[in-house]
Amino acid sequence: MRRKLVAGNWKMNGSADSSRELLQGILGGAAEVAAVELAVFPPFVYLGLVEQALSGTAIVWGTQNLSEHASGAHTGEVAGPMLKDFHCTYVIVGHSERRTLYGESDEVVARKYAAARKFGLKPILCVGETLEEREQEVTEAVVERQLKAVLDLEGIASFADAVIAYEPVWAIGTGRTATPEQAQEVHAFIRARLAAHDAALANQVRILYGGSVKGSNAAELLVMPDIDGGLVGGASLDAKDFLAIAKAGC
Ligand code: PGA
Repeated sequence: MRRKLVAGNWKMNGSADSSRELLQGILGGAAEVAAVELAVFPPFVYLGLVEQALSGTAIVWGTQNLSEHASGAHTGEVAGPMLKDFHCTYVIVGHSERRTLYGESDEVVARKYAAARKFGLKPILCVGETLEEREQEVTEAVVERQLKAVLDLEGIASFADAVIAYEPVWAIGTGRTATPEQAQEVHAFIRARLAAHDAALANQVRILYGGSVKGSNAAELLVMPDIDGGLVGGASLDAKDFLAIAKAGC
């Protein structure tokens, strides 16, 4: 059985005060959704306060990005060992906003995935097609290419400690969610691609769906056989909504 994971990607939102308030809200309802693993991904600068609030609780945390390098002259970057200092469990790599707004190629994403693993962090590898790519019916080819860059660099065994998030770019922050069937189809495709390398491992890997997940649509998504949780943006900024999504996965 794959334990469901509901991950809150806060993106570049909030303040120190609002982050503390959000964490208190989540902690207040966490016991009721203990069947699901909860994780939050604050902006780097709030990592310390997140660690302080969540240490000793069942909720884990990580960041939205990391450098592919270990240290050195990389102004403005944050390295894996620094994230380990703050006891991060996970790190998101290859989010579509990193790929499209900051020009991260499949190869850069693969190197970040490798850096995460090298420094003891579990990568959450994001993949997904744009609207144009979906309309051109190349969704599977795009997702396969994104996966292949990582498989080529790190191999199938690396997925034992990784999570995949399928996030159709057209569904992110748009209020337009993939239907459960559309999402399931791509999730099954991803699992089949992994299974072609190692069937047993493919069966263990958690594949999250992301893109306008909310309390009101989470249940129909999380009930699908290959959807193992959600990577949640907007709705993760509201403790009630975030917990409602987790509840739907219980
Ligand atoms: P959204 O973002 O839930 O606001 O669509 C999801 C994501 O980008 O991870």
